[in-house]
Amino acid sequence: MTTSRIALVTGANRGLGRSTAVALARRGVYVVVTHRGDGAGVEETVKQVEAVGGRAAVLRLDISDVSSFAPFAAQLRRQLEHWNASRLDVLVNNAGVGIFGPLEGVATEDFDTVMDTNVRGTFFLIQALVPLLAQGGRVLNVSTSLTRHTSPATSVYSASKAAVEALSRTLAAELGPRGIRVNSIAPGPTATDFNGGAMRDDAEMRQGLAGRTALGRVGEPEEIGDAIATLASEGLRWVTAERIEVSGGALL
Ligand SMILES: NC(=O)c1ccc[n+]([C@@H]2O[C@H](COP(=O)([O-])OP(=O)(O)OC[C@H]3O[C@@H](n4cnc5c(N)ncnc54)[C@H](OP(=O)(O)O)[C@@H]3O)[C@@H](O)[C@H]2O)c1
Repeated sequence: MTTSRIALVTGANRGLGRSTAVALARRGVYVVVTHRGDGAGVEETVKQVEAVGGRAAVLRLDISDVSSFAPFAAQLRRQLEHWNASRLDVLVNNAGVGIFGPLEGVATEDFDTVMDTNVRGTFFLIQALVPLLAQGGRVLNVSTSLTRHTSPATSVYSASKAAVEALSRTLAAELGPRGIRVNSIAPGPTATDFNGGAMRDDAEMRQGLAGRTALGRVGEPEEIGDAIATLASEGLRWVTAERIEVSGGALL
């Protein structure tokens, strides 16, 4: 039986999912990293995990395809057995999508994509994987600082993440008797591919956000990965039903 803790990170082929997987690996946690594409990005994630001395396994998962969750759970169980483990310690629901536009510009299909991915996918993946979660396990749901402050043209995305925060609190109450902690983590603007890479590549946007952030810049993916890995650690075992913002003091 392995003594390492085991985490699953969704959407780990790039961005915050990758930085979270690497941060967990750096702390000795084995990681199951999921992706929905051709595998190119996830190979780089595995490389980075191994470079810090970690162990990673790769599974394919489209979180908008709820019907795939039962076979996915069976695959995950087999991977855990391969590591001589029977339980998952940490589930990081990171995969998410942002489609932005003003009220009159939001198409119903875009609304559905955001809700199906961020809310429906997150909820039913927790439902599917809770039987595999260890007593004392963690669920960490990635939200956004946009549930606290407002920005035009983000209503659907913000609402989807507000739903994620609400379901996190209720599930913390439901799963507490099993010792499972459920928290949401709310990153501020962070330099990834998200929103077309604007927070990384658009100098004007970066400057504007920096001027409205206490620490004077946008976040880097490693800063979110480290925060998530810290939240998953034993030191924060008494924290549940919380929304923890990691934004450098954005738009206070
Ligand atoms: N960057 C920010 O400023 C920021 C701020 C607050 C919150 N967030 C949240 O942080 C999380 C990660 O974002 P990021 O910055 O790393 O953005 P990103 O670079 O755009 O990555 C998004 C990840 O989610 C995956 N994904 C999207 N839909 C999926 C689906 N149906 N099934 C499986 N995977 C899916 C993507 O997979 P593909 O590569 O296949 O598309 C990708 O791995 C998201 O939940 C986002 O809402 C980001």
